[in-house]
Amino acid sequence: MARGRKIEIVTFVLLQIVVVATAANVTYDHRALMIDGKRKILISGSIHYPRSTPEMWPDLIQKSKDGGLDVIETYVFWNGHEPEKNKYNFEGRYDLVKFVKLVAKAGLYVHLRIGPYACAEWNYGGFPVWLHFIPGIKFRTDNEPFKAEMQRFTAKIVDLMKQEKLYASQGGPIILSQTENEYGNVDSSYGAAGKSYMKWSASMALSLDTGVPWNMCQQGDAPDPIINTCNGFYCDQFTPNSNNKPKMWTENWSGWFLGFGDPTPYRPVEDLAFAVAIFYQRSGTFMNYYMYHGGTNFERTSGGPLISTSYDYDAPIDEYGLVRQPKWGHLRDLHKAIKLCEDALLATDPTVTSLGSNLVASAYKTSSGSCAAFLANIGTESDANVTFNGNSYHLPAWSISILPDCKNVAFNTAKINAATDSTTFSRQPLKPNADSSEELGSQWSYNKEPIGISKADAFLKPGLLEQINTTADKSDYLWYSLRMDIKGDETFLDEGSKAVLHAQSIGQLVYAFINGKLAGSGNGKQKISLDIPINLVTGKNTIDLLSVTVGLANYGAFFDLVGAGITGPVSLKSAKSGSSIDLSLQQWTYQVGLKGEDIDLGSGDSSEWVSKSPLPTMQPLIWYKTTFDAPSGSDPVAIDFTGTGKGIAWVNGQSIGRYWPTSIARNDGCTDSCDYRGSYRANKCLKNCGKPSQTLYHVPRSWVKPSGNTLVLLEEMGGDPTKISFATKQRGSSQCLTVSQSHPAPVESWTSDSKILNRASPVLSLKCPVSTHVITSIKFASFGTPTGTCGNFSHGRCISPRSLSIVRKACVGSRSCKVEVSSRVFGDPCRGVVKSLAVEASCS
Ligand code: GAL
Repeated sequence: MARGRKIEIVTFVLLQIVVVATAANVTYDHRALMIDGKRKILISGSIHYPRSTPEMWPDLIQKSKDGGLDVIETYVFWNGHEPEKNKYNFEGRYDLVKFVKLVAKAGLYVHLRIGPYACAEWNYGGFPVWLHFIPGIKFRTDNEPFKAEMQRFTAKIVDLMKQEKLYASQGGPIILSQTENEYGNVDSSYGAAGKSYMKWSASMALSLDTGVPWNMCQQGDAPDPIINTCNGFYCDQFTPNSNNKPKMWTENWSGWFLGFGDPTPYRPVEDLAFAVAIFYQRSGTFMNYYMYHGGTNFERTSGGPLISTSYDYDAPIDEYGLVRQPKWGHLRDLHKAIKLCEDALLATDPTVTSLGSNLVASAYKTSSGSCAAFLANIGTESDANVTFNGNSYHLPAWSISILPDCKNVAFNTAKINAATDSTTFSRQPLKPNADSSEELGSQWSYNKEPIGISKADAFLKPGLLEQINTTADKSDYLWYSLRMDIKGDETFLDEGSKAVLHAQSIGQLVYAFINGKLAGSGNGKQKISLDIPINLVTGKNTIDLLSVTVGLANYGAFFDLVGAGITGPVSLKSAKSGSSIDLSLQQWTYQVGLKGEDIDLGSGDSSEWVSKSPLPTMQPLIWYKTTFDAPSGSDPVAIDFTGTGKGIAWVNGQSIGRYWPTSIARNDGCTDSCDYRGSYRANKCLKNCGKPSQTLYHVPRSWVKPSGNTLVLLEEMGGDPTKISFATKQRGSSQCLTVSQSHPAPVESWTSDSKILNRASPVLSLKCPVSTHVITSIKFASFGTPTGTCGNFSHGRCISPRSLSIVRKACVGSRSCKVEVSSRVFGDPCRGVVKSLAVEASCS
């Protein structure tokens, strides 16, 4: 054999070996997903790749790994990947292959939810709007045109993943794929065709031969071998539809999403940890946080109606990519504690015993003698003292203790041992461009968007058109325009040619202009009914109604047909006599989108900007442009849009999304401190009532350069762009933590191999989040019965006089410190009382 050929063969064989060596066989049994035949406890978190930037991905993934995740879960966003039929986009934020490879590089697995219906508070649930115009199409049901498109796209994604060898069966990170999404929540609305569609979706997915299992979430009748999985705030009560399938939780909502006009939801970490722990206690083996990093709805990607641009979700990693403490840290400790139990959890089924009313112990005892237990107090009011295996334990209400050796507590869901270091925004003005000596206000140029019809492609149609059918969502904007001759003696007119303009819309925002002047506006989630007093003139009048969408619906049966826009009636009526004229069936002139969109003012490149002063402000429909220097440093950047009304903004041609600081959260249902005990619901814990829902808008660092950046706004309502400022987000300088004598010793004191515990007292540990910082001062330290929270701690009746000096000595000057929480260290200022150590430290 020729030498060259021999080398070729050897190389081929070697390559094969490499592939074979890394390929993993993913299967499952009734307890867990199995990788190469070994059951796994998996902890997963959702990060949606287009909700951040490729530059942010490595750090987000690393923070997920450091937080104890094994898996990253993401949807695939069809409308991002195929904005026009057969024209694909896998670049930039839509570089799915890069994202999956980065997850693999960090050593984590991927759960790829191909859908392709995503829901996800994403525009049109992830469906491209062109799909709606395919003749005869009906979404998510047994409909040939829809199924053909769904199959084509699903196959396209599976093929792409296969080409790149990204399935675990090929040596890649993807261990699981999802078809459809929560179809079981709505399928009854689709009747028998819904059932056959669901079965088709399952077999279509299976036919793609990924070599790894598929799941369907919220689909109780998912056919074998598809695993049906649970979504919700709790899934401990869930059982899969066959006893060959493991108990899996694909969406554990770490908070909830924000809508314009809504207060901000948050979910206390004690409750989130409780939900997770009880799921694993009750034999669950895969749980995913939805979201672990929520991110930002850039461009026009937010779903609707009225989903905000921020998709922070109160997730363990915040919108800007900073860890949210103590949420992230407490969950990291929880994950460690669960992993300490992994062998026992997977080896057997639990022995469940009642320890009293609302008190449950689950012990996983293996034949080889290892044992792990979870002790739950599912009561919402009373703490309890329980006895388990002859030892006694204190269980706060609505909490779970994890005992990796069936004896010592490694973690309790209600006892946080991770410091709070709230992040802060520091403000700075939008810097004048360094090259310019002009005043700040005059650094803006502008372009007035014409009111009403201005584009050559405007068209006439009798009657009122539904908006999505008309714009195909190419723009948020649709003009409805009508010219009217007024004689002056019409019965619908009151004295002085006054009348009331009545207009009804199905969403989400309408501005009414009479003869070029804004007369009124209104917005709403479903139905908007406007009654605006107007003045007409004798002779020609124009009524221009600008209808604006703020994210297309993404959830519910037939969400694709909900529609938007001014569907009428539109009428003029006399306030006095009630006499009216219906304009709905008149010949209206329509214009899709704005002139400034056609000439791409958002890019900042156009030459059609006016720099003359004074800058027009507080007038509707003005495009503004300025240049700016980026705030120095590397902290995440936001623009504070306070002072403006509503619109869309672009930084260096990249749309950062819709801004709307004048959308005020309803003043209803907020609580300063939300009791974590008891079942969580989306509106249980709300903050920010009566304030703007969102003033700060993320500008990813990689989208700005140090100087010479362009900011363009399209201001719809009227505002003053010179009021805009920057905010950079940094980790707070204070570190606060309260650890009691009843806290377990830190979970780090366990080692997973030997489970040998240095069973010392609880320890309070602090660490400055910035690596170059040290603890410079101790603002507060009290061992005894301190009360309060970060920023307003106060001493209780019982206090060790040595508190401050001991903590100072241990901490000041170092980046991190540990202080044992015990009377051995502090002396005992009040015998027989369980004492706590509360500390507030400053880092710089
Ligand atoms: C679920 C859905 C997700 C997301 C979530 C709410 O029903 O599957 O995509 O929309 O609700 O954030």
